Amino acid sequence: MKIVTVVGARPQFIKASVVSAALQKNCTEVLVHTGQHYDHNMSDVFFEELGIPKPAYNLGVGSGSHGRQTGEMLMRIEDVLLKEKPDVLLVYGDTNSTLAGALAASKLHIPVAHVEAGLRSYNMRMPEEQNRVLTDHISTWLFCPTQTAAENLKKEGITKGVSISGDVMLDSVLHFLKVAQNNPEKTAIFDRLQIQPKKYRLATLHRAETTDGGLDAIIRIFNAFEKLPQLVVLPIHPRTRPLAEEAIAKCGFRNIKLIDPVGYLEMLLLTSNACQVMTDSGGLQKEAWFMEVPCITLRQETEWVETLNGNWNVLAKLTTEDIYEKAMHTVPEPAARGQMPFGDGKASEKIAAALLNG
Ligand code: UD1
Ligand code: UDP
Repeated sequence: MKIVTVVGARPQFIKASVVSAALQKNCTEVLVHTGQHYDHNMSDVFFEELGIPKPAYNLGVGSGSHGRQTGEMLMRIEDVLLKEKPDVLLVYGDTNSTLAGALAASKLHIPVAHVEAGLRSYNMRMPEEQNRVLTDHISTWLFCPTQTAAENLKKEGITKGVSISGDVMLDSVLHFLKVAQNNPEKTAIFDRLQIQPKKYRLATLHRAETTDGGLDAIIRIFNAFEKLPQLVVLPIHPRTRPLAEEAIAKCGFRNIKLIDPVGYLEMLLLTSNACQVMTDSGGLQKEAWFMEVPCITLRQETEWVETLNGNWNVLAKLTTEDIYEKAMHTVPEPAARGQMPFGDGKASEKIAAALLNG
């Protein structure tokens, strides 16, 4: 069996790392990188650290408006599919690379497998919601990370090809956290940043909904933390850097340690040792939950509703008052986390087996 996998953005490299390892045992996988993310610390670092095979194709699409970026990917992926003639096209998540891959394959009648199917925010203004809804509706295999995701698909009339595999990000955390903890080069990040475990909050920000109105409110709040620990470590996504620098110039950086994006192994160490995570990232809010680190999600809604049980993940509106209140006064309840909804850490193997058995 031949599978073409299309990836392009940071979280997709992480998800692909565990599934590719499972697939490699029994099939030919041709990896296609759209080039959506291209900085060393947004792309190559993940291939180097996580043992992902070098992509057979890098389409070099780069940044652009949603339509232009998706259109360029569509054209270039179609050429690859015509040449490679795979049995299946595999995509992850909800980025423009996901939709372009699924659409190119669907139009050539190549079956699409979607990992992380069925996630919904029910906010159609989000580019990710558009990408995931459209991808799900043209997929043959829909691998849901949770029961909720499968129920979401059912509400849209999709039941054929749906299975609950569990979440591949749980597989990757379980595997790579140990790898990171045993790598002195990676654990040295605490000395390099001059921070101590559990004496900082960890924040990331990259979504248009968070950043479009400016970052002043968020930066002001980070600076206002007076309860220890005050320090906020902020590995900044390249699209947010200019906005964060502008806001910091206006509001100061009393408590903020602004750093470049880090590799996944260092990120797992920073997350597991944080006393609190504050983020608009889909992946990070879940990783915080896996590692039992309380999270404040800087969004109006979340696709990962299971994480909200027992205040382990709390949504905050983008107002100074709400962020401050939630960050300072949320107390998670250990007994109320509920049953593990994200599977048993073997989602990748289940997905590989399902694809190989047809
Ligand atoms: C994309 C995904 C988002 C995902 C995120 C993961 C879409 C619509 N969005 O958002 O779902 O959560 O990736 O990180 O697909 N840039 C660089 N260097 C890079 C990559 C990006 O400088 O290596 C800058 C460019 O200015 C670019 C901007 O970041 O215009 C946005 O990048 P893009 O890939 O379009 O969207 P993300 O915000 O990264
Ligand atoms: N991540 C990373 N380095 C960073 C920031 C994030 O490795 O500097 C990882 C993070 O641990 C998670 C993934 O990137 O696994 C999340 O990606 P992102 O927030 O960019 O996208 P989303 O999950 O929101 O789609």
